[in-house]
Amino acid sequence: MKKLKILMAASECVPFAKEGGLADVVGVLPKHLARMGHDVRVVMPRYKRVDRERYGLKQLPGVLVVPMGVIGNQYCGVWEGRIPGSDVPVYFLEHEGYYGRDGLYEMNNEGYLDNDNRFVFLSKAALELPKMIGFEPDLLHAHDWHTAAIPVLVNTTYAADPYVGGKATVLSVHNMQHQGNFYEGLMDVLGIGWEHFTFLGLEKDGETNLLKGGLYHATVLNTVSKGYAREMQTPEYGWGLDGVVRERAADLFGILNGVDYDDWNPEVDPYIAARYSAADLSGKKLCKRDLQRTFGLPERDDVPLFGMVSRLVKQKGVDILAEAIHRILALDVQFVMLGAGEPWTHFFFGDIKNAYPDKFNLYVGYNNPLSHQIEAGADFFLMPSAFEPCGLNQMYSLRYGTLPIVRATGGLDDSVENFDGKTLSGTGFKFWSHDAGALFDTVGWAVYTWYNRRDAMEKLIANAMAKRFTWEDAAAKYEELYGRALRKRLGEKTFVRRYGKDKPVSG
Ligand code: ADP
Ligand code: GLC
Repeated sequence: MKKLKILMAASECVPFAKEGGLADVVGVLPKHLARMGHDVRVVMPRYKRVDRERYGLKQLPGVLVVPMGVIGNQYCGVWEGRIPGSDVPVYFLEHEGYYGRDGLYEMNNEGYLDNDNRFVFLSKAALELPKMIGFEPDLLHAHDWHTAAIPVLVNTTYAADPYVGGKATVLSVHNMQHQGNFYEGLMDVLGIGWEHFTFLGLEKDGETNLLKGGLYHATVLNTVSKGYAREMQTPEYGWGLDGVVRERAADLFGILNGVDYDDWNPEVDPYIAARYSAADLSGKKLCKRDLQRTFGLPERDDVPLFGMVSRLVKQKGVDILAEAIHRILALDVQFVMLGAGEPWTHFFFGDIKNAYPDKFNLYVGYNNPLSHQIEAGADFFLMPSAFEPCGLNQMYSLRYGTLPIVRATGGLDDSVENFDGKTLSGTGFKFWSHDAGALFDTVGWAVYTWYNRRDAMEKLIANAMAKRFTWEDAAAKYEELYGRALRKRLGEKTFVRRYGKDKPVSG
């Protein structure tokens, strides 16, 4: 395939700024695309937490002028860095007013009131950047609502721009719940005509919905598993936009995320107490001891240890876990939890810790080394998600021989195979109904298996550790998707030339 020039815009990217799995994808996918020969570049905000010295950022000469509709021009500096371990350039937009704050999106659980302008700015600045750096992309790749305005702008306000006008666009949806819906006047900041404020445009329930605009305008769409690509077309998972997604179903694809196995590999992991492999699991025992010690739990080999690392929000099933936790802890088990999120979860699980000091402990906050230690030291990893577009921890868990217990939804369903007690096939334990009863039953099933079927446990661990979800595979699929977007865009332009009119959907 022809080598492409790709501009990727996103609000997160490891190692610079991360809240969730989006950052992992944006930090790793470009590296693999670059290895395949593509010229891929990333643009994101320079949040306060992105340390210019630590990452050796260099300031580009000049100032980027970003027309923000009725707000007028806004100006930002641009700093250039590299994704570590690669030559992929990352352009950081430095705007003190928008990004010089501690949080990415919120402070004390309150979203910033100007998130609309902050991310419309990101989208527009991404479209102004190519001029400044002399880079004409073949294709623009946006992620989630934060940059979903890009496909809209490319087809409208920027349609005649010599660098980005009318270019093919890809929108990756990592989460349908967060849509970037704001007051209607945001249309005047976007600077696109009010004829786009319709049911078949950006309007949703009287508001400007950026994700909806992106879903209509992107040349092709994708999400991070085939399962979620199906689910997001249903009312249960579509958060009110399932109809739009159904309308674009022919252009929607599912590509499961990969794992960065340089980072997540128990054979070389520098964060864990002892290294181990499928051939020799003795190190895993030491990791379990170490994890029990870290969390102040009795150091026992003869008890199953459950781990969880998660944003503690409803998406992740913390509500059904709260309902089931007393029943779970009535069994002879231990449970360690790492995460932060909705304030009630900190209080609730804090109380659980006080009620079951020998069985349960939690660490509230974000801690990368500890997340590795949990992956290595636990016997089981719990992900009772209400929905999960992909999910990364179940894939890490497989590699660490820590059997995932998951609700069969989205990427969890696609990446974990259910245990079959007769054939001893499978890589984990699944439940379907999203309720505390189903969760408890499945935890009980895993506990029973742990205590009574060592043969099955060993087989399951071996099956799990042999699984691979590589970025090489995923990046090859993205390359195919880009090809599809370019062909479709070309076809649309030919259509316009021949018939002198544009098609209503996807610019
Ligand atoms: P989501 O993006 O919905 O939060 P994913 O499973 O895709 O879910 O990605 C979550 C990522 O964030 C994983 O890499 C996980 O290890 C990490 N993570 C989540 N919470 C924490 C935490 N408290 N400390 C360290 N890492 C965390
Ligand atoms: C979102 C989803 C998660 C997915 C991640 C990366 O945050 O909630 O399931 O793994 O994006 O694609």
